[in-house]
Amino acid sequence: MPLFDVYPLYDVTPVSGKGIHVYDDKGTEYLDLYGGHAVISIGHAHPNYVQAITNQVNALGFYSNAIQNPLQRELADKIEALSGCKDYELFLVNSGAEANENALKLASFKTGKKRVVAFKKGFHGRTSAAVAATDNPNIVAPINAQQEVTILELNDVEGVKQELEKGDVCAVIVEFIQGIGGLDEASAEFFEEVDALCKANNTMFVADEIQCGYARSGKFFAFQHYNVTPDIISMAKGMGNGFPIGGILIHPDIESKYGMLGTTFGGNHLACAAGLAVLNTIESENLLENVNEVGAYFIERAKDITQIKEIKGRGLMLGLEFDFEVGGLRKELIYNQKVFTGGAANKKLLRILPPLNIEKAHVDQFFDILKLALKEVEQTVN
Ligand SMILES: Cc1ncc(COP(=O)(O)O)c(C=O)c1O
Repeated sequence: MPLFDVYPLYDVTPVSGKGIHVYDDKGTEYLDLYGGHAVISIGHAHPNYVQAITNQVNALGFYSNAIQNPLQRELADKIEALSGCKDYELFLVNSGAEANENALKLASFKTGKKRVVAFKKGFHGRTSAAVAATDNPNIVAPINAQQEVTILELNDVEGVKQELEKGDVCAVIVEFIQGIGGLDEASAEFFEEVDALCKANNTMFVADEIQCGYARSGKFFAFQHYNVTPDIISMAKGMGNGFPIGGILIHPDIESKYGMLGTTFGGNHLACAAGLAVLNTIESENLLENVNEVGAYFIERAKDITQIKEIKGRGLMLGLEFDFEVGGLRKELIYNQKVFTGGAANKKLLRILPPLNIEKAHVDQFFDILKLALKEVEQTVN
């Protein structure tokens, strides 16, 4: 049976991974500066992670959300301790889209309203309300387009004010650092004013931390670079280091009610074991510190490359913007130089999302390789 052909694939077949490297079916080693779309947070096959999942699957892999599962409480407490987000409550799901879908649904339940404000170049997932709030008409089917969404420019405070004052907006959803859009960020004033406008207009402020959260930006959540208090925080990607898990942190002003939200697989025993192994490793290996240190080092090294016109992002969520489209460069990096990097909607931007335990030596290795790759690409262009 053929696979439904929706993914343009690179001709590479990774079969194993260790730390910052993956290995293909011929045993070739690749430096992984992309972590499979920002998912690999503590490195491939981290021993803590392998052990935790192995132990859990040997004990109990799954039971439904109709029984006591103390691992969920343990995960909630660990997220609270590491993020410093006191008093929020946790609801667990399986993916980023599902996290945002539930965030928007909760915002609508809480406010009784149904329009969403989102932003240009934002990406929030492919399900009903999440995809409608995503600025990409190519992936919005007619059934999704019935959602009421207004998409504004980042930094358009006046636009947000006008929309919220109409009284029908349940949520403003924003990535504090845009991922697939190309690492753009709004200003601190914008985020802080939007936070205040949400509070003044009974609108829920939803921080989409699915890509920029979980220590990647150098703080546990990217919104923590600002003075804001989101009502709902959505998480996924780095949360399970590859095990499918997502979640939302919900401000206690939003009251829970039996049956309000639900999922079969969300918060299952294996997912919680994976999630706990990730957080325990972020803590025990001081990965937040590592993100800041190695991220700063990466930026310094990038400044030496004259072809890089702008460096975007924070921590280990970085974008290198060139004055040419980087498709050819990415192919050269992957096929000839054996390095995984990412692209973005901004075709001139190379996205760098390595595991959070990357070391400076890997960064040095990358820049040596990048120089070679740039020479190769320039030769083919000239
Ligand atoms: C910011 C952001 N939100 C939501 C999603 C959707 O997550 P998922 O693919 O797990 O549904 C993504 C995925 O790339 C993302 O980057």
